[in-house]
Amino acid sequence: MKLFLDTANLDEITEINRWGVLDGVTTNPTLAGKEGKDFAAMIKDICAEVDGDVSAEVVSTDTDGMLEEANKLAAIADNVVIKLPLIPAGLAACSQLSRDGIRTNVTLCFSAPQAILAARAGATYVSPFLGRVDDIANDGIALLSEICEIFRVQGYATEVLAASLRGPQHVAQAAVAGADVATLPTKVFHQMVSHPLTDAGLERFLADWDAYQQQLRG
Ligand code: G3P
Repeated sequence: MKLFLDTANLDEITEINRWGVLDGVTTNPTLAGKEGKDFAAMIKDICAEVDGDVSAEVVSTDTDGMLEEANKLAAIADNVVIKLPLIPAGLAACSQLSRDGIRTNVTLCFSAPQAILAARAGATYVSPFLGRVDDIANDGIALLSEICEIFRVQGYATEVLAASLRGPQHVAQAAVAGADVATLPTKVFHQMVSHPLTDAGLERFLADWDAYQQQLRG
Protein backbone atom coordinates (compact mmCIF):
# COMPACT_ATOMS: atom_id res chain seq x y z
CA MET A 1 0.00 0.00 0.00
CA LYS A 2 1.40 3.36 -1.05
CA LEU A 3 1.25 6.29 1.39
CA PHE A 4 0.12 9.73 0.26
CA LEU A 5 0.01 12.91 2.35
CA ASP A 6 -3.35 14.68 2.50
CA THR A 7 -2.30 18.34 2.70
CA ALA A 8 -1.38 21.35 0.57
CA ASN A 9 1.19 22.59 3.09
CA LEU A 10 4.66 22.50 1.54
CA ASP A 11 6.51 22.46 4.88
CA GLU A 12 4.57 19.37 5.96
CA ILE A 13 5.17 17.71 2.59
CA THR A 14 8.91 18.44 2.78
CA GLU A 15 9.08 17.08 6.35
CA ILE A 16 7.37 13.76 5.59
CA ASN A 17 9.16 13.41 2.25
CA ARG A 18 12.48 13.36 4.16
CA TRP A 19 11.34 10.20 5.91
CA GLY A 20 11.48 8.46 2.51
CA VAL A 21 7.97 7.03 2.88
CA LEU A 22 5.99 9.42 0.70
CA ASP A 23 4.49 8.15 -2.57
CA GLY A 24 2.32 11.14 -3.41
CA VAL A 25 0.09 13.99 -2.21
CA THR A 26 -3.64 14.64 -2.28
CA THR A 27 -5.15 18.11 -1.97
CA ASN A 28 -8.71 19.37 -1.99
CA PRO A 29 -10.30 22.85 -2.05
CA THR A 30 -10.53 22.94 1.75
CA LEU A 31 -6.84 22.10 2.20
CA ALA A 32 -5.79 24.54 -0.56
CA GLY A 33 -7.80 27.33 1.08
CA LYS A 34 -5.82 26.93 4.33
CA GLU A 35 -2.59 27.91 2.54
CA GLY A 36 -3.79 31.30 1.19
CA LYS A 37 -1.62 31.07 -1.96
CA ASP A 38 -2.29 30.95 -5.70
CA PHE A 39 -3.56 27.43 -6.44
CA ALA A 40 -1.56 26.78 -9.62
CA ALA A 41 1.66 28.00 -7.97
CA MET A 42 0.94 25.81 -4.93
CA ILE A 43 0.46 22.69 -7.09
CA LYS A 44 3.62 23.50 -9.06
CA ASP A 45 5.68 23.73 -5.84
CA ILE A 46 4.23 20.47 -4.49
CA CYS A 47 4.88 18.66 -7.79
CA ALA A 48 8.50 19.82 -7.71
CA GLU A 49 8.94 18.53 -4.13
CA VAL A 50 7.50 15.02 -4.58
CA ASP A 51 8.24 12.43 -7.25
CA GLY A 52 4.82 10.77 -6.95
CA ASP A 53 1.32 11.72 -7.99
CA VAL A 54 -0.22 14.99 -6.78
CA SER A 55 -4.00 15.28 -6.87
CA ALA A 56 -5.39 18.73 -7.74
CA GLU A 57 -9.17 19.13 -7.59
CA VAL A 58 -11.43 20.97 -10.01
CA VAL A 59 -14.24 23.16 -8.65
CA SER A 60 -16.52 23.37 -11.71
CA THR A 61 -19.69 21.31 -11.51
CA ASP A 62 -20.25 20.97 -15.27
CA THR A 63 -18.20 18.70 -17.55
CA ASP A 64 -16.90 21.42 -19.88
CA GLY A 65 -15.77 23.57 -16.95
CA MET A 66 -14.09 20.55 -15.34
CA LEU A 67 -12.26 19.72 -18.56
CA GLU A 68 -11.06 23.30 -18.98
CA GLU A 69 -9.70 23.35 -15.41
CA ALA A 70 -8.27 19.85 -15.79
CA ASN A 71 -6.31 20.70 -18.91
CA LYS A 72 -4.79 23.79 -17.23
CA LEU A 73 -3.88 21.82 -14.09
CA ALA A 74 -2.47 18.87 -16.06
CA ALA A 75 -0.15 21.26 -17.90
CA ILE A 76 1.52 22.30 -14.61
CA ALA A 77 3.57 19.10 -14.22
CA ASP A 78 3.68 15.46 -15.36
CA ASN A 79 2.75 14.18 -11.89
CA VAL A 80 -0.53 16.12 -11.61
CA VAL A 81 -3.61 13.91 -11.22
CA ILE A 82 -7.00 15.56 -11.76
CA LYS A 83 -9.41 15.15 -8.87
CA LEU A 84 -13.06 15.07 -9.91
CA PRO A 85 -16.23 14.75 -7.80
CA LEU A 86 -18.27 11.56 -8.12
CA ILE A 87 -21.25 13.17 -9.86
CA PRO A 88 -22.51 12.57 -13.43
CA ALA A 89 -20.53 15.55 -14.80
CA GLY A 90 -17.43 14.26 -13.02
CA LEU A 91 -17.82 10.80 -14.56
CA ALA A 92 -18.19 12.33 -18.03
CA ALA A 93 -15.06 14.44 -17.46
CA CYS A 94 -13.23 11.37 -16.15
CA SER A 95 -14.10 9.35 -19.27
CA GLN A 96 -12.90 12.15 -21.56
CA LEU A 97 -9.67 12.71 -19.61
CA SER A 98 -9.02 8.96 -19.61
CA ARG A 99 -9.35 8.97 -23.43
CA ASP A 100 -6.97 11.95 -23.53
CA GLY A 101 -4.38 10.13 -21.40
CA ILE A 102 -4.79 12.46 -18.39
CA ARG A 103 -4.83 10.68 -15.03
CA THR A 104 -7.71 11.16 -12.60
CA ASN A 105 -8.74 10.68 -8.98
CA VAL A 106 -12.53 10.38 -8.58
CA THR A 107 -13.29 11.69 -5.13
CA LEU A 108 -16.18 11.92 -2.66
CA CYS A 109 -16.96 8.21 -3.05
CA PHE A 110 -19.29 6.85 -0.37
CA SER A 111 -20.61 3.60 -1.86
CA ALA A 112 -19.50 0.53 -3.80
CA PRO A 113 -21.84 1.28 -6.75
CA GLN A 114 -20.25 4.74 -7.04
CA ALA A 115 -16.79 3.14 -7.05
CA ILE A 116 -17.85 0.77 -9.85
CA LEU A 117 -18.92 3.77 -11.96
CA ALA A 118 -15.56 5.49 -11.36
CA ALA A 119 -13.71 2.35 -12.46
CA ARG A 120 -15.82 1.98 -15.59
CA ALA A 121 -15.24 5.68 -16.41
CA GLY A 122 -11.51 4.93 -16.50
CA ALA A 123 -10.45 6.62 -13.26
CA THR A 124 -6.81 6.15 -12.27
CA TYR A 125 -7.83 6.32 -8.59
CA VAL A 126 -11.13 6.24 -6.73
CA SER A 127 -11.24 7.75 -3.24
CA PRO A 128 -13.68 6.33 -0.68
CA PHE A 129 -13.89 8.65 2.37
CA LEU A 130 -13.73 6.30 5.37
CA GLY A 131 -13.79 8.81 8.22
CA ARG A 132 -16.80 10.65 6.86
CA VAL A 133 -18.65 7.31 6.54
CA ASP A 134 -17.79 6.56 10.18
CA ASP A 135 -18.99 10.07 11.11
CA ILE A 136 -22.54 9.16 10.06
CA ALA A 137 -22.43 5.93 12.11
CA ASN A 138 -21.68 3.63 9.17
CA ASP A 139 -18.59 1.45 8.73
CA GLY A 140 -15.92 3.05 6.53
CA ILE A 141 -13.57 0.06 6.63
CA ALA A 142 -16.41 -2.31 5.64
CA LEU A 143 -17.08 -0.06 2.64
CA LEU A 144 -13.38 -0.03 1.70
CA SER A 145 -13.17 -3.85 2.00
CA GLU A 146 -16.22 -4.26 -0.25
CA ILE A 147 -14.75 -1.94 -2.89
CA CYS A 148 -11.34 -3.67 -2.78
CA GLU A 149 -12.99 -7.09 -3.14
CA ILE A 150 -15.12 -5.94 -6.10
CA PHE A 151 -12.09 -4.45 -7.84
CA ARG A 152 -10.09 -7.64 -7.22
CA VAL A 153 -12.86 -9.95 -8.51
CA GLN A 154 -13.56 -7.73 -11.51
CA GLY A 155 -9.92 -7.05 -12.31
CA TYR A 156 -10.46 -3.27 -12.47
CA ALA A 157 -7.28 -1.30 -13.17
CA THR A 158 -8.46 1.67 -11.06
CA GLU A 159 -6.50 1.96 -7.80
CA VAL A 160 -8.44 2.20 -4.53
CA LEU A 161 -7.23 5.24 -2.58
CA ALA A 162 -8.46 5.16 1.03
CA ALA A 163 -9.13 8.77 2.07
CA SER A 164 -10.47 10.62 5.10
CA LEU A 165 -8.37 8.44 7.41
CA ARG A 166 -8.52 9.67 10.98
CA GLY A 167 -5.86 7.63 12.81
CA PRO A 168 -3.14 4.95 12.61
CA GLN A 169 -5.64 2.13 13.12
CA HIS A 170 -7.48 3.26 9.98
CA VAL A 171 -4.18 2.96 8.08
CA ALA A 172 -3.56 -0.59 9.31
CA GLN A 173 -7.16 -1.57 8.53
CA ALA A 174 -6.92 -0.06 5.04
CA ALA A 175 -3.77 -2.14 4.41
CA VAL A 176 -5.52 -5.33 5.57
CA ALA A 177 -8.50 -4.50 3.31
CA GLY A 178 -6.10 -4.31 0.34
CA ALA A 179 -6.22 -0.59 -0.48
CA ASP A 180 -3.68 0.39 -3.14
CA VAL A 181 -3.07 3.77 -1.50
CA ALA A 182 -3.86 5.45 1.82
CA THR A 183 -3.81 9.24 2.07
CA LEU A 184 -3.23 10.62 5.55
CA PRO A 185 -2.97 13.98 7.25
CA THR A 186 0.46 14.87 8.66
CA LYS A 187 -0.84 14.26 12.19
CA VAL A 188 -1.53 10.61 11.34
CA PHE A 189 2.03 10.11 9.99
CA HIS A 190 3.29 11.38 13.37
CA GLN A 191 0.86 9.14 15.26
CA MET A 192 2.00 6.14 13.17
CA VAL A 193 5.66 6.54 14.08
CA SER A 194 5.15 7.07 17.80
CA HIS A 195 4.98 4.34 20.38
CA PRO A 196 5.50 4.78 24.14
CA LEU A 197 7.62 1.62 24.31
CA THR A 198 9.91 2.99 21.57
CA ASP A 199 10.37 6.21 23.60
CA ALA A 200 10.91 4.32 26.87
CA GLY A 201 13.27 1.84 25.19
CA LEU A 202 15.36 4.61 23.63
CA GLU A 203 15.55 6.49 26.94
CA ARG A 204 16.78 3.31 28.66
CA PHE A 205 19.36 2.54 25.93
CA LEU A 206 20.77 6.09 26.13
CA ALA A 207 20.91 6.01 29.95
CA ASP A 208 22.66 2.61 29.87
CA TRP A 209 25.13 3.93 27.27
CA ASP A 210 25.94 6.92 29.50
CA ALA A 211 26.49 4.63 32.50
CA TYR A 212 28.79 2.40 30.42
CA GLN A 213 30.85 5.40 29.25
CA GLN A 214 31.12 6.66 32.87
CA GLN A 215 32.31 3.20 33.93
CA LEU A 216 35.03 3.20 31.22
CA ARG A 217 36.25 6.57 32.41
CA GLY A 218 36.56 5.08 35.90
O1 G3P B 1 -8.77 14.70 0.80
C1 G3P B 1 -9.93 13.98 1.01
C2 G3P B 1 -10.11 13.44 2.41
O2 G3P B 1 -8.97 12.76 2.84
C3 G3P B 1 -10.65 14.44 3.40
O3 G3P B 1 -10.63 13.95 4.71
O4 G3P B 1 -10.78 14.33 7.14
O5 G3P B 1 -11.75 16.04 5.55
O6 G3P B 1 -12.85 13.83 5.87
P1 G3P B 1 -11.56 14.58 5.87
